[in-house]
Amino acid sequence: MARRKKIYEGKAKILYEGPEPGTLVQYFKDDATAFNAEKHAVIEGKGVLNNRLSEFFMDGLNAIGVPTHFIRRLNMREQLIRSVEMIPLEIVVRNVAAGSLSKRLGIDEGTALPRPIVEFYYKDDALGDPMVSEEHIIAFGWASQQDLDDMIALGLRVNDFLSGVMIGVGIRLVDFKIEIGRIWDGDFMRLVVADEISPDSCRLWDLKTGQKLDKDVFRRDLGDLADAYTEVARRLGVLPVNTGKLGKPTLIN
Ligand code: TMP
Repeated sequence: MARRKKIYEGKAKILYEGPEPGTLVQYFKDDATAFNAEKHAVIEGKGVLNNRLSEFFMDGLNAIGVPTHFIRRLNMREQLIRSVEMIPLEIVVRNVAAGSLSKRLGIDEGTALPRPIVEFYYKDDALGDPMVSEEHIIAFGWASQQDLDDMIALGLRVNDFLSGVMIGVGIRLVDFKIEIGRIWDGDFMRLVVADEISPDSCRLWDLKTGQKLDKDVFRRDLGDLADAYTEVARRLGVLPVNTGKLGKPTLIN
């Protein structure tokens, strides 16, 4: 069978031409990178888990009226998505101090923040994705004031949804990153959550033990990353069949 045309390859995913105009196929690789790809490994089964987990979160967001690019999962590693015009920003929402916030401001990891904090980073690997202010975003034309207001509102809605879902399975949502794209309908434009939502782009701590169940396990060499993601998938009831690491397959749909 002729392979589809590759549109873009990133560190953890590949985008292929979709079956209809306005669609793409998003393929989840097993590659894990950290520190702007200075650290790299192939974690067997990660792509399968993230495909399922991202489907689960995006489906839930669509169901509560938060628009996303997600259409449907196609198979173990691929999902059909709407083609969007990506805004070159990462939107990070934090509930608890950790990672770069703790480092930058000297706040102990695990300190609850007085309110959710929204930050923006400019997506540019060569620059190491620097943090930028709303002033930078508007001055350099990456987004308008209206887009910014909408992106903050989207980020906070995603935060409320994800926090609630994770609390229900005994996990604290410390922080996460989303990316946002534009969909055009004639002259009318709306913003949708794009890219992926998975333990690659969140910090997830077990509520009782504080055990890390996200990509920090890889960044900080804390154990087996696929085991951590499998635990998240298991608790959410979305354990996929046959990731290669999971032993006896369990058919879920
Ligand atoms: P940070 O504390 O390193 O700034 O990360 C904040 C959140 O963003 C955390 O949940 C991990 C996620 N993140 C990504 O998804 N991609 C990245 O490149 C970085 C640096 C962080």
